[in-house]
Amino acid sequence: MTAAGRISRRGLFAGGAATAASALGSAAVGAAPASAAAGPSVEPFHGTHQAGIATPPQAHAVFVAFDLLPGTRKEALGRLLRLLTDDARRLTQGRPALADTEPELAADPARLTVTFGFGPGLFAVAKVESPIRPLPAFETDRLRKEWSGGDLLVQICADDGLTVAHALRMIVKDTRSFARVRWTQRGFRRSAHLHPSGTTQRNLMGQLDGTVNPTDLDRAVWIAQGPQWLRGGTTLVLRRIRMDLESWDAADRVAREFTIGRRLADGAPLTGRAERDEPDFEQVNRLGFPVISEYAHIRRARTADPAARILRRPYNYDEGLSRDGESDSGLLFASYQADVDRQFVPVQRRIAEGDLLNEWVTAVGSAVFAIPPGCAPEGWIGDGLLG
Ligand code: HEM
Repeated sequence: MTAAGRISRRGLFAGGAATAASALGSAAVGAAPASAAAGPSVEPFHGTHQAGIATPPQAHAVFVAFDLLPGTRKEALGRLLRLLTDDARRLTQGRPALADTEPELAADPARLTVTFGFGPGLFAVAKVESPIRPLPAFETDRLRKEWSGGDLLVQICADDGLTVAHALRMIVKDTRSFARVRWTQRGFRRSAHLHPSGTTQRNLMGQLDGTVNPTDLDRAVWIAQGPQWLRGGTTLVLRRIRMDLESWDAADRVAREFTIGRRLADGAPLTGRAERDEPDFEQVNRLGFPVISEYAHIRRARTADPAARILRRPYNYDEGLSRDGESDSGLLFASYQADVDRQFVPVQRRIAEGDLLNEWVTAVGSAVFAIPPGCAPEGWIGDGLLG
């Protein structure tokens, strides 16, 4: 092929891509350079609620927790949150952060969302009564400090790993003079577009994970009462739960399905035919034993009142292998609810008291955050508390 041929083909291609991008841009949020192949890739930043919770889960996530530097004052916290909100506002809309050292990496936000959460230590600095506290101790927990606690949380999710890494770097840079990184936890789900949206993800145990979630988020997730600055917000419980995949591999299919109370192939309850069928907890087998065990995970975790259900938005983690080939894998169990004590704790307590799944899973990290509401274009996250 001649040089001229190459140039003209390239020129043609560039022209076509630009047309597709501008068509998408005007159909979606406006200015953002959406990727033509992947469909609209911009999640709105402003609104009543922060993005990243009701947002259909993206493929990649990193949760980063910070400890505020000793002596940090409320005014400094306000400056920090203004700065971080500005980063989030720009990056999620496909624009570089201020003083972005790699502005090209901001160009395709890949449904990036950046969500902020406040831990108990932040409320001490703000001199405001904390709406959240660490969970009570559970006998089955083996919590490690390096995966627990934190004053400030930033949850970054996108359908692209490079986008997540760049956003994380920008956020961490701007946080440096106010706080130290306490931990980062990375997770993943199936790649976007591999399955139709709305398909339940699979976790590393192979189960369909996320079938039963609340539908009425106004009742189950968003806070409607209490301090004004928190209304429209929620709470996050993040549990790092290790899976013992070596011994899980040794369990047969019947045992695995009995443990959850659902079938592996399609996620249907053992008493039903399809994933969305209601489990029949009363049904017994020929010997008179319940088909869904008294200690099956879905029986122990069930909350009768749908309005009191927790919103699970879990990510898988897989951090590599020990020298003898054992994996360090599990679930970043992210649970959002209006009220931790009323919604999360009773479920966790029933699971800790007796759940067949406990044989293979262990919580090794735990953190609780208040998630303030979203903000208006002229506002910033946390302005009602720190402004
Ligand atoms: C690694 C740990 C865990 C694994 C592998 C796991 C897996 C599953 C699976 C496969 C289901 C059935 C499908 C579904 O509805 O999503 C399920 C349901 C559920 N899980 Fe878990 N889970 C884990 C930990 C937890 C924890 C820590 C909690 C809460 C404290 C929890 C709460 C629930 C709830 C509320 C349901 C729905 C129950 C229903 O009403 O049917 N799970 N989980």
